[in-house]
Amino acid sequence: MEQIIDKYRGDSTAMIAILHDLNAAFRYLPREALEIVSDRLSVPLSYLYSAATFYRSFDLEPCGEHEIQVCLGTACHVRGSERILDALSRRLGIKPGETTADGKFTLKRVNCLGACALGPLVSIDQKHHGHLTIHQAERLLEAYKDEHD
Ligand code: FES
Repeated sequence: MEQIIDKYRGDSTAMIAILHDLNAAFRYLPREALEIVSDRLSVPLSYLYSAATFYRSFDLEPCGEHEIQVCLGTACHVRGSERILDALSRRLGIKPGETTADGKFTLKRVNCLGACALGPLVSIDQKHHGHLTIHQAERLLEAYKDEHD
């Protein structure tokens, strides 16, 4: 926590970068962490919460060990990403935004992963998998489960 804040020398203009690093370190933004950031950067806590809720890449609840992001941006949506999201949701037994009971997977819907030409696009732990069919996405999930069990 202190290392992350010190890395940016307490610079309030680096607030988003600090939140990104904290989110990656804790897999979410604990309230205690936001309180410390607020204090160290002299930024109101409410402002940090506004930023944390505005950007979909931040989590205010603990995430699972592995994060699956399904892009529902326009380019991916027109190529069927909604059906991929539904299929993964069924396989995992959770809705988008939820984490499996064993804490292994969090499923998220995101608006754009910045690689629209690869749609429909799914990212698992920040690794992009593009041009997926429903079947390929399901196989990818099963392979990932096997690999990380
Ligand atoms: S719309 Fe899916 S990556 Fe941009």
